[in-house]
Amino acid sequence: DLSPIDKAKFVAAKRAAQYVESGMKVGLGTGSTASWLVKCLGEMVRDDGLKIQGVPTSSRTAALAREVGIEVISLDEAKWLDICIDGADEFDPNLNLIKGGGGAHLQEKIVATASDQMIVITDASKSVETLGAFPLPLEVIPFGWQTTKTIVEEALVGMDVLGRNVSLRMNGDAPYVTDEGNHILDLHLNRIGNARQLSLVLNQIPGVVENGLFIDICDAVVIGYGDGRAEVRD
Ligand code: A5P
Repeated sequence: DLSPIDKAKFVAAKRAAQYVESGMKVGLGTGSTASWLVKCLGEMVRDDGLKIQGVPTSSRTAALAREVGIEVISLDEAKWLDICIDGADEFDPNLNLIKGGGGAHLQEKIVATASDQMIVITDASKSVETLGAFPLPLEVIPFGWQTTKTIVEEALVGMDVLGRNVSLRMNGDAPYVTDEGNHILDLHLNRIGNARQLSLVLNQIPGVVENGLFIDICDAVVIGYGDGRAEVRD
């Protein structure tokens, strides 16, 4: 039996899987909620004859997709996707997001941007009025990362945010390493007043590869609840 939170994630995934039709190229997100989606789609491939090609957003998702029998292709093979379904760490009333809690926001953002539509699957706990309580992930290249961190901290001084603490994400005793071989800085901002401006400023800094703000990318959010209901916001 599933816990209420897992039930909510499963319900959201199951509802979002209805958007997927045979012949589609589908972006497959990363994280615990997206894992439910990949499993649902795997079942539909096996039991209902669904024919899709999946583009995973991480090595973890690629492994799971293959395991459940989804044909996996690269984004360069797909070139463009019909739909991308992924989780999120926060979403606001304008459907802007923070992603990257799982460390995969770089590939996730590339894949979502290359899709006709992006659907986010989530439980209600990720809904916020203003983004920023969840630390904003920033993928940086390893070369000179400490200098990059200092420049990020300086850039935050001029920004409309409530906190300015920046930490290097760790994996045990070593810096966390992404699928692209980079590190992640987590920006503890508490409240992001102007997400669009912040995103532009951060991505201008040399050494920064991509931030976890998804602005004007998500088309709909499917919220699952522990009692089995699903709600769609678009
Ligand atoms: C992965 O990098 C993230 O963007 C995930 O999509 C996000 O952290 C949501 O994960 P959960 O579904 O596990 O909460």
